[in-house]
Amino acid sequence: MAAILPALALAVTATGCGSKGGAPSNTGSAPAGVQLVNAGKLTTCTGLPYKPFEYEEGGKVIGFDVDLMDIAAKKLGVTQDIVDTPFDGIQSGVDLNSGKCDIAAAGMTITDVRKQNFDFSDPYFDATQALVVKKGGATDIPQLKGKKLGYQNGTTGQEYAQKNGDGVELVNFEDLGLMLNAVETGQVDAGINDNGVLYDWVKDHGDFAVVKEFDTGEKYGIGVKKGNDALLKVINEAIAEAKSSGDYEKFYVKWFGKKPGEK
Ligand code: ARG
Repeated sequence: MAAILPALALAVTATGCGSKGGAPSNTGSAPAGVQLVNAGKLTTCTGLPYKPFEYEEGGKVIGFDVDLMDIAAKKLGVTQDIVDTPFDGIQSGVDLNSGKCDIAAAGMTITDVRKQNFDFSDPYFDATQALVVKKGGATDIPQLKGKKLGYQNGTTGQEYAQKNGDGVELVNFEDLGLMLNAVETGQVDAGINDNGVLYDWVKDHGDFAVVKEFDTGEKYGIGVKKGNDALLKVINEAIAEAKSSGDYEKFYVKWFGKKPGEK
């Protein structure tokens, strides 16, 4: 029986059997109506590195988002397969709409513009923009006039820097790792990104500090292609169940070293 399932799933995907009509349209043991781009897998797009939400260690992609979406995969009866791809293609909706992935789990902020291009799950994490500098450097954006501020391409940090960085030289980086490397080597005077990843980074970069949070009031959501409501429902259920079962708190402590809401 177990051997038959993947073949069946492939056939279903190949014929593009939709969610309408009475015929079973599931993939693997996924609930009826859930269409997956690759049979037997929940294919997740993310932009690495984004520690502790998603990053590579020992040849595996691990992190908070990975743990959370493993619950969704489990509910679908499949395994999660992670695809690393530039964040800009994730946030624009291109990756979801071209069928590269089923979901996008990338510490991604829910925004009105993004909502026009794909759907978001219920919010699962609070975030805000923050500034990281070498200790003794600037403590706010205005002090960076005539200096260099690094940001990650396609992010809400980019948007914030462009709105508030008058007279500041803004430097674009494809991913967080490249941006932080530039901060570390002094190629830029400061970097802007989400608080969670920056606080994580300064933990083992003692010469650097997060000197400012901008209170942008962001919330992360999981992206799903518009129209895949059956999958969106499973994702929302996974998030809700993680919260009620205590898994969410467990993951939070595992990846952030404290409970949600704790200082
Ligand atoms: N939260 C920010 C945004 O949505 C940054 C996300 C970057 N994520 C990543 N995996 N690189 O724009």
